[in-house]
Amino acid sequence: MSERFVNPTISNLPQSGIRKFFNIAQEIPNVISLGIGEPDFVTPYPIRRHAIDSLLNGETQYTENAGLIRLREEIVYYLKTRFSLEYNPKTEIVVTVGASEAIDIVLRATLSLGDEVILQDPGYVSYAPCIIMAGAIPVPVKTRSENEFQLTAADIEEKITDKTRAILLSYPNNPTGSILSLECMQDIANLAVKHDLFIISDEIYNELVYDGNTQPSFASLNGMRDRCVTINGFSKAFAMTGQRVGYLCAPEGIAKQALKIHQYTVLCVCRTSQAAAIAALKTGKETDYKDVIMMRESYDRRRRLMHSALVNMGLSCVEPKGAFYAFPSIASTGLSSDEFCERLLKEEAVVCVPGSAFGEGGEGHIRCCYATDIDKMKEAFLRMNRFIQRLKEE
Ligand SMILES: Cc1ncc(COP(=O)(O)O)c(C=O)c1O
Repeated sequence: MSERFVNPTISNLPQSGIRKFFNIAQEIPNVISLGIGEPDFVTPYPIRRHAIDSLLNGETQYTENAGLIRLREEIVYYLKTRFSLEYNPKTEIVVTVGASEAIDIVLRATLSLGDEVILQDPGYVSYAPCIIMAGAIPVPVKTRSENEFQLTAADIEEKITDKTRAILLSYPNNPTGSILSLECMQDIANLAVKHDLFIISDEIYNELVYDGNTQPSFASLNGMRDRCVTINGFSKAFAMTGQRVGYLCAPEGIAKQALKIHQYTVLCVCRTSQAAAIAALKTGKETDYKDVIMMRESYDRRRRLMHSALVNMGLSCVEPKGAFYAFPSIASTGLSSDEFCERLLKEEAVVCVPGSAFGEGGEGHIRCCYATDIDKMKEAFLRMNRFIQRLKEE
């Protein structure tokens, strides 16, 4: 009955393919989840301590819309020293409610009705819905396991029309765990210049890169700063998902417009969370990011374990190089990724996310998160192996 009051653009959006599985999982005893994409660490103590102190000191008021200037200055210092980025804290940074809000407001601030945005497929679940909610059209470009799920300029160029405005990408990547080579980045940068597009680079996993590799920041490439919006946040690197702090960095002309949307919709990010974020960056620089490195090393151990376990089960899997996901192919089982995950959950009580939740290009794969307790992971591998062997006998 009340449906008639609803905006069809919103009611036509699908429910997130990730959440659907968690709802089923909640009813199954002894379930092990490789599903949710969040650190299994509690936020490091100095960060929590600072947030508590801030509250005890009575810091309970609104802050500047763009975020506390001390936080913006710390963000600028962090990005400069770790990713060679140069931003003005007064005019080019907006502190947002997680990277999630940054994605939304950047798209709304830059896109007009009918504009097209190129995005990688498979890719993070929020991108296409946020593009649609901004009145624009998502144009997926498939990435392939043969190429380690790297987005190529040649594939992008095939999809460029006179409506194309932007390329939205994220490396290290969710769900594939891939990173993007400097060469591919440079080709995409050249393409952006050739077709006068801007780039939205979600770098939320930039601290989680393994084996001595690095993921350069898009805006640090020559000539890119002024046609690039960098999105980042505290959720992954600092294990602060529940505190909801992220940020966008953009040339003043874009940041100013995104700030308007932020101002009219959320006013500012929770002050206590901003205090926590200041502590994350301050303690980080004073301790050479000891906690970040400790967490990364722990994910790295689990990454190796997961990759070899998946390969030993007979699943082909590109070695993940960043974030905390593996994205094996389940094509050999003959099941769709949805069927595979549903049966794995019902028959063996293990949650993985079907690749199709991340776009058509994810079909034939599942996403397994290794930010999970190591003993639980080992038990999950036994169950998955049993499931796969049973499928072979069917
Ligand atoms: C690629 C990507 N971007 C953004 C987000 C959202 O992060 P936040 O918690 O900062 O909103 C996630 C969360 O999983 C993600 O994987």
